[in-house]
Amino acid sequence: MKKSIFLMSCAMAVLSQGAAIAAPKAKVDSPDVQAAKIVGQMTPEDKLNLVHGIMPLPMLPGTVIPAGVTPSAGYVAGAPRLGVPALRETDASLGVAYVFGLRGDGATALPSSPALAASWNPDLAYQSGAMIGQEAWRSGFNVLLAGGANLARDPRNGRNFEYLGEDPLLAGTMAGESVRGIQSQHVISTVKHFALNDLETGRQFLNAKISEAGLRESDLLAFEIAVKRGEPGSVMCSYNLVNGGYACGNDFLLNKMLKRDWGFKGWVMSDWGAVHGLSDALNGLDQQSGQQLDKAVYFHLPLQEAAKTDKAYATRLDDMNQRILRSMIAVGVIEHPPVKTPLDREAGAKVAQTTAAQGMVLLRNQNNLLPLTASAKRIVVIGGHADLGVLSGAGSSQVAPREGPSVTDVLGGEGPLSFIRRAMYMPSSPLKAIRAGAPQAKVTFDDGRYPAAAADLAKSADVAIVFATQWMMEAYDSPDLSLPSGQDELIAAVAAANPNTIVVLETGGPVAMPWLNKVGAVVEAWYPGIRGGEAIADLLLGKVAPSGRLPMTFPASLAQTPHPILPGINVPEGQQFDVDYVEGSDVGYRWFAKTGAKPLFSFGFGLTYTQFAYSDLVIKAGDKPSVSFTVKNTGAKAGTDVPQLYLTQSPNRTQQRLVGWSRVDLAAGEAKSVTVPVDPKMLANWDQTAGAWRVDAGTYQMAVGASANDLALKGTLVSKLLKLKPQS
Ligand code: BGC
Repeated sequence: MKKSIFLMSCAMAVLSQGAAIAAPKAKVDSPDVQAAKIVGQMTPEDKLNLVHGIMPLPMLPGTVIPAGVTPSAGYVAGAPRLGVPALRETDASLGVAYVFGLRGDGATALPSSPALAASWNPDLAYQSGAMIGQEAWRSGFNVLLAGGANLARDPRNGRNFEYLGEDPLLAGTMAGESVRGIQSQHVISTVKHFALNDLETGRQFLNAKISEAGLRESDLLAFEIAVKRGEPGSVMCSYNLVNGGYACGNDFLLNKMLKRDWGFKGWVMSDWGAVHGLSDALNGLDQQSGQQLDKAVYFHLPLQEAAKTDKAYATRLDDMNQRILRSMIAVGVIEHPPVKTPLDREAGAKVAQTTAAQGMVLLRNQNNLLPLTASAKRIVVIGGHADLGVLSGAGSSQVAPREGPSVTDVLGGEGPLSFIRRAMYMPSSPLKAIRAGAPQAKVTFDDGRYPAAAADLAKSADVAIVFATQWMMEAYDSPDLSLPSGQDELIAAVAAANPNTIVVLETGGPVAMPWLNKVGAVVEAWYPGIRGGEAIADLLLGKVAPSGRLPMTFPASLAQTPHPILPGINVPEGQQFDVDYVEGSDVGYRWFAKTGAKPLFSFGFGLTYTQFAYSDLVIKAGDKPSVSFTVKNTGAKAGTDVPQLYLTQSPNRTQQRLVGWSRVDLAAGEAKSVTVPVDPKMLANWDQTAGAWRVDAGTYQMAVGASANDLALKGTLVSKLLKLKPQS
C-alpha cells in the first residue's frame, strides 16, 4: 500500500524539525486542505476514478471484477498514483452483509434496527455501530453502507426492519450515534436512503409528494439530526422521486438541503441503479454506485467529455473528488487501511445479545404471567422454527454467520429478485435456550403447522409459548398487518386451549393481534439477531427484565393510518405514480394524536416486571430550557424505565412531538431525579416564508409520560420568539 500524501507530508515535517528537540507538534492540514491538495495533483483521468463504481458480483452480466476484489455491494477504484486507496463497500446497518455466502466468511448479525431504536439507548447505538464497523474493517472494507434513517411512515414498509422507527428525534439520534460508532473504526458510514424512501412498492417509480414544511419537520429532520450528530462520510440518495424529481438528481434535496442548509461536507453516493442522467451531477450527486444497474455509466466518459467543455461540470467534478477525498481523510481510511483479521465473534455476539435484550418490548403481561417461575413444570414451545433459530429480514442488508443460516425457507416467486426471496433464520434456538434456562421444566416442541395438534399439546401444559414470524424483505411491502401463513389462527387455537399463552413476535414492524385479549403475554422481539434465542429465553425466564419501548405505533387497523390502501399496489410495474403524503409531518403517533384514533399499542409503550411513578415536574424556561422530574420504581423488582418528554401544543399549532427522553435504571423502591434538556429546534415549526425555523413567542404545553398516550405530568414552558437559521 502506497503511503498517502498526508502521511508523507507529516513525516517530512517531523524529520525537518530534528528528532532530539521536543518541537511543537507539526501542524496537520485539515481534511479539507489535504483533499484540495490531492485534487490539485489529479489529472483529468484521475478525477474519474472516484466518482463511479461497480457492484462486484459475479452473477451480474458483463461484470469484470478486478483481481483481489471481494464480492460485495460496491467497489470504486481509488487513485493509486496519489496514494488514494479504492473504496471497498459492504452493506449495511445490521452487520457486514452475507452477499449470498459469496464472500466465504460471515459476520455478526445484529438485531433489526427497530430493536436498537426500542432500546432508546444512544450509547448502545454507538457500541453496536463500533462493533459492525470493526467487523467491516477486519473483513477488508472501508465503507459500510449503514445508517438507515428513513422514518417508519407506513407500518407495511418492507424495510422498516432496517430503520429506526417513526420519530425524527429518536431515529436521527440513534442513526447519528451508530454512524459515529462505525466511523470510530476508520470505516465510512452512509446515511441512507435520502429521502422519503418510505415504501418499497414501486420504489423506483414512486413520486413522494409532500409540502416543504411537512418534509423538513419529519423525514428530513431525522436525516438532519443523523448527519449533524454522526458526520457521516457519505449520504446515499434513494430510488424514488420527491416532489417530481428523482432523489439522486434532486437539486432541492442534495444541493439546497443537505449541502447548503446542513453544511454537509461529505459526498452523495447514489443508490444502486438510481442514476438517471449526467445532469444528476449538477443536481448534487457526487458518485454513481453499482453502475451496471443504470442505463449508462454517466459518471465516466460522458462526465469526462462534459467537463472538457462545460465549466459547470468541470467545477462539479473537482468538488465531487474533493468531497470523497475529504471524507476518506476525515474518517481515516487512508491512514488506517483495513487489514483482514479474524472477527472477534464472541465480542460481536455479546453486543448483539445486549441489543436484543434492551430492544425487546413487553406488550402484555396478564396476571404477571411473565417472568416464568420455577413452578412452570410443563412448557410447550410452538412454531416459528423456534427449535432451530430466529428470523432475520432479507435484501441487501441480510447478514449471516460463516456457517450460514440454520434454516432457509425458499419462498421463490417471480420477478428479478425472486432468487433472494429466502427467509433465513439465525442459528440461535429459543427452544434450546429455554431448555437450558429452565432445567426443572419439561419443555416440548411443536412446529405449529397444525393448529389443532398444537392446541392439544398446549392443553396439558402449564404455559404455551407461540413463536410467530413475519418475514420482510427489501423491495416488498407487506399487503396488510396480518401474520402470514395462518399464524393468527394458530395463536387463537392455542390460546383457546390454554390461557397461559405467551406470544413471542419476530416481525419487521407492527402487526395486528386479533387474538390479543385471549393470550396471557406478548413480547415483540423484532428480528433479534445472532443471540436472539438466548436473549428471548433470558427475558421469559426473568434473568433480564424487559426494557424496550416501541419506536413505532402499532395501529389497531390500517383504517387508522393515513393510507389505508397500500400506495402503488394497483399500479402496473414500471409506471410512475404519486403518493400524496397528506399527513405531512404528522407521522405515526402524531397522526394518532391528530385524529384521536386509539392505536393497539402507542409509540413509546412497553411494560416491565415492575412499575414506575412520576412526580415533581419542574420546567425551566430561558436560554437553556429543560424539564426535570422524579421517576420512582414503585414495584418490588429492579427495572429500567424510559420516561419521555412530549410537546403537546405550541402557541399556534396542536401537534404532539417527542422532545427528549431518558433511560433510567432503578432498584426496587428507588427514585431518581431526571433532567431532559429541551432543544428549541424540537419546539420549532418550519416557516416557509421566512426560510427559517420559528419558535413562536408564547406558551408550550409539555408532558412527561410512559408513552405518547400515557402522559402523567403536564406543565407549560413559556418561550420568547426565536428564529433559527436552517443551518442551526
Ligand atoms: C439498497 C441499498 C444498498 C444497495 C447496495 C440497494 O438496493 O437500496 O440499501 O446499500 O442496494 O447493496
